[in-house]
Amino acid sequence: MSRIFSGIQPSGTLHIGNYLGAVKNWAALQHTHESFFCVVDYHAIIAAYEPADLRARTADMIVSLLAAGVDPSRCTLFVQSMVPEHTELAWIFNTITPLGELERQTQFKDKASREESVPAGLLNYPVLQAADILLYRADRVPVGEDQVQHLELSREISRKWNARFDAGVGAGDAFFPEPEPLLTPSRRIMGLDGKAKMSKSLGNTVGLLEPADEIWAKLRPAVTDPKRQRRTDPGTPEVCNIYHLHKAFSPPETVQHVAVQCSTAGWGCIDCKKVLHESMERELVPIRSRAREVAANGALVKEMIDAGADHARRVAQATMREVKDRMGLT
Ligand code: AMP
Ligand code: TRP
Repeated sequence: MSRIFSGIQPSGTLHIGNYLGAVKNWAALQHTHESFFCVVDYHAIIAAYEPADLRARTADMIVSLLAAGVDPSRCTLFVQSMVPEHTELAWIFNTITPLGELERQTQFKDKASREESVPAGLLNYPVLQAADILLYRADRVPVGEDQVQHLELSREISRKWNARFDAGVGAGDAFFPEPEPLLTPSRRIMGLDGKAKMSKSLGNTVGLLEPADEIWAKLRPAVTDPKRQRRTDPGTPEVCNIYHLHKAFSPPETVQHVAVQCSTAGWGCIDCKKVLHESMERELVPIRSRAREVAANGALVKEMIDAGADHARRVAQATMREVKDRMGLT
């Protein structure tokens, strides 16, 4: 059974892009894979933040993950800063990672271009990410499309370390695996403005735990096929963001029906959005109710996370013993 690892920043609550691109897949994969899921607070402190706020966002993210179906009896769920080996391995990987590869990362270039003063942590962010994954020697990483480049770098770091320190074993049983992304059909959910990827920092998100009326208030004015100006104009489903959300939330018969109604102008966009809203509610109502249950049970959640961190730490320490042994560290 291959091992999977994935991480998410403690941004408070999940949005439907996180959910459809990654976390829903976590909940499915935990049944078939040995799974480690981590709230990555060491990654989050690279951006300016308030300490009390970070703690609250971490707790809220855990509630969101549990509500979305991540089940600590089937996976190891924990917070990154509870397992210090993540930063220890990241330091080691920093010593073998080419600077040029880090400078080429799209996310680094984007973020650095918007900062007056760029912290070294922003450059080294993907090195910590490689350490997260390889600490558990995970070979599959369920993420959205925006993480694919980071994973290419993780594979390069793995190859470099193996070549240098993993004496004499064949490629098939190298110490560190080369982790591959596991993408879903919803690998890149667009924001409701239809312009860019759904992202917390762009303010174009739909929260997984948002109340029904607030979701409708966002869906109603959401961008559809820009060529469909009048109710009687036929639309092109493939260019419409609402159609793509139908594919994620509606059953196949409904998706087919939507495509026909759109391309024949049988339905207007509002009709189509109402049906989408119903499909979303079917999936989101149980998630919201689970979130309420979990949030009311703080002590139990803390216990689950402590147990997750204990297990993660044991696996991490075993990896670090071997890494240090092979590297001549004590
Ligand atoms: P982040 O909130 O950036 O920590 O992302 C957490 C996970 O959600 C990562 O696996 C991302 O690739 C995924 N993700 C974030 N935004 C989107 C999106 N708009 N569509 C699909 N996946 C996404
Ligand atoms: N960089 C990821 C994101 O922003 C979060 C992350 C950190 C991660 N470490 C990871 C994802 C390890 C997968 C595996 O979404």
